[in-house]
Amino acid sequence: MQAVILAGGLGTRMRPLTYTTPKSLLPIMNEPMVERLINTLPKEIDRVVIAASYMVDRLREHFKENDIGRKVVIVEEKEPLGTGGAIKNVQKHVDDTFIAINGDVISSLDYTSMRDFHKDSGGIGTISLWEVKDPTRYGIIGFDSQLKISRFLEKPAPKEVFSNWINAGVYILEPEIFNFIEPDKIISIEKEIFPPLASEGKLFGFKFYGFWVDAGTPEAYLSAHRTLLDKGVSLALSYPYENVRIVPPVLIGDECWIGENSEIGPYTCLGNSIEVLSETKITNSVVLGNTLIGRSNHLKEVIIGYGCTIEDEVTMGSGVVVGDNQILKKGTTVPDNSTMGEM
Ligand code: GTP
Repeated sequence: MQAVILAGGLGTRMRPLTYTTPKSLLPIMNEPMVERLINTLPKEIDRVVIAASYMVDRLREHFKENDIGRKVVIVEEKEPLGTGGAIKNVQKHVDDTFIAINGDVISSLDYTSMRDFHKDSGGIGTISLWEVKDPTRYGIIGFDSQLKISRFLEKPAPKEVFSNWINAGVYILEPEIFNFIEPDKIISIEKEIFPPLASEGKLFGFKFYGFWVDAGTPEAYLSAHRTLLDKGVSLALSYPYENVRIVPPVLIGDECWIGENSEIGPYTCLGNSIEVLSETKITNSVVLGNTLIGRSNHLKEVIIGYGCTIEDEVTMGSGVVVGDNQILKKGTTVPDNSTMGEM
């Protein structure tokens, strides 16, 4: 089996962070998203194809500097071709059954079981299925008792919901799929290629359980961290800081320093080289790295990019996303859900 990771989107919903870092290199639990994904692939996959476009040079640089133990081939689209166009664009690098994965999916999916199911089904493609309570924000999928897919609907209105199973963004495909995608065109595989194949009975669904997060929005990015922190990658309480409260689960990177009477956690991930001054509280948040957070700040449900200086007594609402290299002056108030940082 081979693997193709789709990592060429603009990541507009993660701006301003994606002005400076492609979404696939944003860290999840202090590890670039795409690397984390590659590390979860079955061992038998020794070569990974990354379909890239936006900020492709950053990806090239990253894999040049970091050996992850598998061969990585980066295939560039001059302009993003959409999920279907991107898959067609890697055709010459794929000659066997392959997994295609949206680069921002964090899940417990067992690819080997999915591949076995796919082989037994005999279809051209198998789509991973995840069950949600409210599917109105997603693409829903209808299927029969044999899990043969019959229909799709993107973002259904509540009255239109015919299934609570959504497309989880991981596919196992036969190379035959390339015959159905025109080259050099912007094509969405979900919207343009899968529906006609399903009407011919060529697609199946694979249900899985455990966890699934599409880390493509700030809210989902924080939720991905909560999910993974809950899975136990938590820091021991004996962390060597004096007069500091660490409320698990938290993850703290290398070379961090935390001042007196500050409280970190729960559900907080600090990257490397973060300095937090005294009397500051950080909960449910992610701070990427090389950042100074001043005194008496209360940060809750925020994401702060690389290289920022948050001076003392800053009031930040929840849902705030601060891009890289921002300086927030002492006493600044940042309203809920706002973003700071331009292109
Ligand atoms: P938004 O702009 O916020 O919607 O993000 P996005 O551009 O990443 O789109 P979306 O989250 O729908 O994409 C899902 C996955 O497919 C992500 O991993 C994207 O990087 C990838 N993707 C989306 N469009 C393209 C494309 O045109 N080319 C390639 N190679 N990958 C894509």
